[in-house]
Amino acid sequence: MTNNNKTYISELKDYVGKEVTLSGWLYNSRSSGKIQFLIIRDGTGLCQCIVEKGSVSDELFDELRHLGQESSIRVSGTVRADERSVGGYELAVTDAEVIGAATDYPITPKSHGIDFLLKNRHLHLRSRRQWCIGKVRHTVIDAIRRFFNDKGFVLIDTPIFMSMAGEDEQTLFEVDYFGEPLHLTQTGQLHLESAAMSFGKVYCFGPTFRAEKSKTRRHLTEFWMVEPEVAFIDLDGLLELAENFVYFITEQALTNNRSELEYLGADIAALEKMKPPFYRLTYTEAVEILTGEKTQKFLSEQLEQLQRQKQQIESRIGELEKKQAGQRKQWQKDKIAAELIELRAELGETDARIENNPKHAKLAAGFQWGKDLGGSDETIISQMHDKPIFVTHYPKDAKAFYMKTDRGNEKVVLNFDLLAPAGFGEIIGGSVREDDYEKLLKRISGQGLDVENYSWYLDLRKYGSVPHGGFGLGVERTVAWLTSEKHIRQCIAFPRLMDKVYI
Ligand code: 4AD
Ligand code: MG
Repeated sequence: MTNNNKTYISELKDYVGKEVTLSGWLYNSRSSGKIQFLIIRDGTGLCQCIVEKGSVSDELFDELRHLGQESSIRVSGTVRADERSVGGYELAVTDAEVIGAATDYPITPKSHGIDFLLKNRHLHLRSRRQWCIGKVRHTVIDAIRRFFNDKGFVLIDTPIFMSMAGEDEQTLFEVDYFGEPLHLTQTGQLHLESAAMSFGKVYCFGPTFRAEKSKTRRHLTEFWMVEPEVAFIDLDGLLELAENFVYFITEQALTNNRSELEYLGADIAALEKMKPPFYRLTYTEAVEILTGEKTQKFLSEQLEQLQRQKQQIESRIGELEKKQAGQRKQWQKDKIAAELIELRAELGETDARIENNPKHAKLAAGFQWGKDLGGSDETIISQMHDKPIFVTHYPKDAKAFYMKTDRGNEKVVLNFDLLAPAGFGEIIGGSVREDDYEKLLKRISGQGLDVENYSWYLDLRKYGSVPHGGFGLGVERTVAWLTSEKHIRQCIAFPRLMDKVYI
């Protein structure tokens, strides 16, 4: 059998009643004596292939029955439409050829712990969940490029080896550059500002590195960020650009990846409501919300709900444990075991949330104007809203040197964070840039940075300075938000985490 007439599973709708050949891997199989059901995946989808005894040679029938999960295979047969079948089509097999047999594939349909799955990421990428996330990520990246390209932005590739800090100096990854200390880029923004003075509207899109010592579900040490930068724009203009941008990404994911989002358990109804305008709060208003009575009430109701949820999970676990003891068939036991692993993980998370709730309530109630919003503060505000929220005008002293002070209130800067709703938190950070030479110089030296290093950046304020600004959107956080994935490490193929790099 040759591969010349290869058809992809995603194309089967055009071949109903016709003979095709699929090339892929054995995702799952089950057999009942005279008939075998092979689920094949080929990178474009899944297809159930039905092999009846007598329709292929006895020898092949036997070989297929013993074929291990993830063996690679070519199968030929006739396409039938069947709504009950995964993907909506199935194949009545007439011939097959095993390409590379696999035995004892380490990742079985049983659930595994996350550590095991990260160690086996090179194989786990084949799982349906990682596949769905990868497809959504692809759409997000495609939408990002399309949005800016269609609006006349010019792509500028900014350097990765850097001599100056663009964000918090505590998060620099140092590298030895021929004996000279440099570091990996935390942001392309500063170079992009220079390019904006040439092209007007620019963006950069690449990997970004932060030695962030936080083991949270929101932090990677290497992540992908897209950053637009625009000359002659104010804060309102930036917010409008950001909300249209996020809306476009959401729309594209809903249009191109509905079935993946469904499989992942994303909140599609909520995503469909993401039309601009998004909510707009100043930092000061956000602090009022955090310290207000409404928030305490919201959190105590949330605690009660979490406790009810905990009881439900515990009783479900009890039921399943009883049921498991009474099962004789191994596959049924495995299925229950997989569900139990998931329920126990959910129980652990619910317990952690129950434990954190009063701590977060206390932090919120005692929040002092002037501090940066912490993770739990962002979560609370985000949980209280059903659409993304812009938080603007943060205290100057809590923010980066490059942000422009509000000329009407020098205590705050013209910046914003965009918080994704339903507890997800920050996906974008941005600002208008300080365009006054003297003020910027003061901010740079005031933060203890070496002014020498920033002389070229200061030049931009000497030669035709203009009001300008931009923002950065984190790809992994955006994908996690869209897919309702709890941890952003699942939203990049090979994650780099603070405590471990697996493969
Ligand atoms: O808010 P940040 O630090 O903003 C900047 O870097 C600006 N220079 C961007 C600009 O104005 N051009 O980072 C922007 C976004 C965050 O909102 C978040 O989505 C993502 O980058 N991000 C991270 N994602 C994963 N892991 C981390 N450690 C991240 N740090 C930031
Ligand atoms: Mg930020």
